Amino acid sequence: MSSKSKFKNVKGTRDILPEEAIRWQKIENIIRKKMEQYNFQEVRFPTFEATDLFRKSTGESTDIVRKEMFTFEDMGGRSLTLKPEGTPSVVRMFLQHGLFNKGALQKFYYIERMFRQERPQKGRYREFRQFGAEVIGSSSAESDVELVKSALDIFNELDIKDVELNINSIGCPRCRKNFIKEFKGFLKEKLSGLCEDCNRRYAENPMRILDCKRDKKKIKGAPVPSDFLCDECKEHFEEFKNRLDFLNIKFNIDNRLVRGLDYYTKTVFEFVNSNLGSQNEVGGGGRYDELIKFMGGEDTPASGYAVGIDRLMLLLKEEEEKLGVDVYIVTFDEESDAEGWKILNGLRDAGFSCDKDPMRRTVKAQFREADRQNAKWVIIIGEDERKRGIVQLKNMGKGEQKEIPMKTGKIVKELKC
Ligand code: HAM
Repeated sequence: MSSKSKFKNVKGTRDILPEEAIRWQKIENIIRKKMEQYNFQEVRFPTFEATDLFRKSTGESTDIVRKEMFTFEDMGGRSLTLKPEGTPSVVRMFLQHGLFNKGALQKFYYIERMFRQERPQKGRYREFRQFGAEVIGSSSAESDVELVKSALDIFNELDIKDVELNINSIGCPRCRKNFIKEFKGFLKEKLSGLCEDCNRRYAENPMRILDCKRDKKKIKGAPVPSDFLCDECKEHFEEFKNRLDFLNIKFNIDNRLVRGLDYYTKTVFEFVNSNLGSQNEVGGGGRYDELIKFMGGEDTPASGYAVGIDRLMLLLKEEEEKLGVDVYIVTFDEESDAEGWKILNGLRDAGFSCDKDPMRRTVKAQFREADRQNAKWVIIIGEDERKRGIVQLKNMGKGEQKEIPMKTGKIVKELKC
């Protein structure tokens, strides 16, 4: 069949066809299993939120808020935005639903679609999927290590190798003040030679200049936040590193790692894999001890991370995924067809995946379909079988065929053998 449709999916979005969907399901199952082993509880949140939520939490000076959000007005003139990341929604839910009353420590996870208007390329899409984990209530480095370990466990279970962990501490607002002062002093002379974005960041959020790929060389030798850590932040970072060491988790210290979101304090980390090309960041996160208070809650420490599932997909080994049903039912005539549907419903109720041709095609076409569906078993019913009250049950792997009474219970018993 040739397609004359002029419609195509929108740039930066992706269709996931059946074989690929099986791999997505596998990944999602592993994420859920691991997250539950770590006692994270699943939350789901809306596709769009009030634009201000992201402006205030993700941060006005971030690339996400400045140029990447899908923002629109509803009919009442309210500004709404398709969620570009999950942390603001989790914090909103935590505050809105009084989840802080449920205990001093809350551990959440999510698997959600996110939307960012970035220039599409391999590994970078306008609609993508993330899983994320957030620990709210704990200020300890143990929680940060637990988060890191949960992500590494998932990579491991997916057999994704060569993921490197980069870490840094960007301090708290108090020690950051001293860094910013020194850093701005260092940059003053160089500013005219830096890119437009860095010039804007100089006024809005100078620390992000450390993140600039274009001006990296021009700011060589610049002061870095970790040189200015106060005793508390220093101790926290030491504890984080010691505990990673204790668990034999390898890491690199990247003292220029600041991450692109405004809410981070103290520890930040990222997972990278060089096989991904220019979009080599598989995931990242860090502490956000100030955000909950800033959003109107009590002073509550928190940390978390998110991983791009589309990027995980690119790193998974290509394995041929086969569609498949347990049982396919082939019938020879109209009356057998009715019996076939009855048996099919019984087998589905008993927990088997089972299918049958709804288009009354020829027996040959039905067998072809059973093959295409990789059926493990085929049940064959014709006039003779009906008269004798039996079905033919063919084991497609072994090529063996047996006669079984035409009773769902008996067929189920045989299939379970
Ligand atoms: P993020 O670094 O902005 O962090 O995104 C996390 C991950 O999402 C990235 O490492 C990447 O794998 C994936 N990702 C981001 N943008 C795209 C895109 N356009 N296409 C495909 N994948 C993408 C956050 O979102 C924070 N909320 C993480 C966090 C949670 N921090 C604390 N808690």
